[in-house]
Amino acid sequence: MLRDDALGRSHRAALGKARLAEAIERTHALLRLPAGYRLGIVPASDTGAMEMAIWSLLGPRPVTMLAWESFGAGWVTDVAKQLKLDAAIRNAGYGEICDLDGIDPASDIVFTWNGTTSGVRVPNGDWIPADREGLSFADATSAVFAYDLPWDKIDVATFSWQKVLGGEGGHGVLVLGPRAVERLQTYTPAWPLPKVFRLVSKGALAEGIFKGETINTPSMLAVEDAIFALEWAKGLGGLKGLIARSDANAVALDRIVAERDWLGHLAEDSATRSKTSVCLTVKGADADFIKRFASLLEKEGAAYDIAGYRDAPPGLRVWCGATVDTADIEALGPWLDWAFEETLRS
Ligand SMILES: Cc1ncc(COP(=O)(O)O)c(C=O)c1O
Repeated sequence: MLRDDALGRSHRAALGKARLAEAIERTHALLRLPAGYRLGIVPASDTGAMEMAIWSLLGPRPVTMLAWESFGAGWVTDVAKQLKLDAAIRNAGYGEICDLDGIDPASDIVFTWNGTTSGVRVPNGDWIPADREGLSFADATSAVFAYDLPWDKIDVATFSWQKVLGGEGGHGVLVLGPRAVERLQTYTPAWPLPKVFRLVSKGALAEGIFKGETINTPSMLAVEDAIFALEWAKGLGGLKGLIARSDANAVALDRIVAERDWLGHLAEDSATRSKTSVCLTVKGADADFIKRFASLLEKEGAAYDIAGYRDAPPGLRVWCGATVDTADIEALGPWLDWAFEETLRS
């Protein structure tokens, strides 16, 4: 049951603020963030959190942009075309990852930890220079709660509640390490910032954002749902429990793929293959085949939203995050066989 005493009340009342602070504190604890890291709830989901970080922090240093799927490509567009920063851009096609070696430690680095639309993730944080002078920005929306993230390599991380936590969408979560905070305190971008992006007020960090004083009105229903999800996660053993569930789901799906010659992984290298958003290839399938295949499964109530992302090569995408029971992944195998045969026949 969701608690409802803060619903319909002001988010600035003591009760609303306490519930926002509870969501923040529980998330901080669940992620095992280092003590000096701040976490805040911000507008406009993961996109809002990323845009806020990019627009507030980039500018004083060279930038290295890494992209291997559509969301990462979107951040490249923002930085190169909107902010017009002269970025070193490294791109990889769907299913592949770009070269992570030799990144300029003087530059800021912007990347997506786990590419949701290609099923490709970074293998670890070893490639992020420990002695970097720049900041590292990780869009971690389908990575948090599924991997043990090396926070010492991450200065800025963003995510939203609706992915691995399975909460209601709407708000973004912004994590700032001490070096990112220092940048905010010492650097003012040359461009104007809309109110919803502003992390600095009168020259000082807007500390309230990290204590539950949101920039504008949040959905308290979504906040209650996030707290509910965080309690659920704690009951599963916290981060370790969530990671174990994702791992087991990815293994179960990989077994299904290995047993079928018509299924493959879009991300061929298992070291950079996602354990949450697993993207599959289907032998001979074009966009129309996948559409018919997915709608057959949907009609049977066997699998929903299983078609790959609209900009990705035609294929399937199976969510393996902690909200999914491994038995349900296992049950998917025969359904995939059935849908494949039916689609071939029709
Ligand atoms: C890697 C990644 N970044 C950004 C987004 C956009 O997230 P939101 O809709 O929470 O703004 C998504 C959504 O799926 C995503 O997968």
